[in-house]
Amino acid sequence: MTRRYLVAGNWKMHKGVADTAAFLEELLAAKRPRNVDVVVCPPYISLPAAAMLLTRSGIGLGAQNVHWESSGAFTGEISAPMLADLDVGWVIVGHSERRTMFGETDETAARRARRAQEEGLTVIFCLGETLKQREAGETIDVLRQQASVLTDLDPAKLVVAYEPIWAIGTGRTASPEQAQEAHAFLRSELRGHFGDEAANKVRILYGGSVKPANAADLFRQPDVDGGLIGGASLDVPSFSAIIRAAAHLAAGASS
Ligand code: 13P
Repeated sequence: MTRRYLVAGNWKMHKGVADTAAFLEELLAAKRPRNVDVVVCPPYISLPAAAMLLTRSGIGLGAQNVHWESSGAFTGEISAPMLADLDVGWVIVGHSERRTMFGETDETAARRARRAQEEGLTVIFCLGETLKQREAGETIDVLRQQASVLTDLDPAKLVVAYEPIWAIGTGRTASPEQAQEAHAFLRSELRGHFGDEAANKVRILYGGSVKPANAADLFRQPDVDGGLIGGASLDVPSFSAIIRAAAHLAAGASS
């Protein structure tokens, strides 16, 4: 099974228009491997500038959230058709920061994901356990529950991001073995939902303190298909180094 690596940058609430343009100009000027898919997810306000700069670049553009309705009285929200209009092809849904700080649930995340897919966007659906849940031995049960709402999504427009909450922004990373164990479990759940063939094509990203120094060890795991990168996606040298780590592994796998 050959899944292409995907390295996606979740910029969170960083980089307005000027910083977004400066980052992308630097990224576009650098030499980039062609055997890895790359996506950047700036804040909403920076998406139009990013869309212009990334036209025909081969780099994908993602949003960090999306509403489940197309339009209406939803102050502060952005809809899937609005994103599609800007040529935004990807969207992060269900990030733990939205779950813990903004009331996102499995059900609301699933609604957002469905609507985004209907509009043609590929969804990066995030899930992962807290430290308390891991220490209580509940990781598998938590992942099973969170993944249960993926059933009525289109696997062809789905990427799953396993982001253990205790590893996000903490400098503490899941070991490659911990990541592989969670990813293998998630893949088995996807097989149950979608069948073997479709599930084998879904990319499962690891997120949580991925850095240039640990990327290769994580990405080498058989069910780790790339990363959803926070802090290390904010400057071009570290983001590029993570992309290169994926590219080396992909080149090794194909030789
Ligand atoms: P860090 O890479 O900063 O830990 O963030 C991970 C993350 O939340 C990506 O969505």
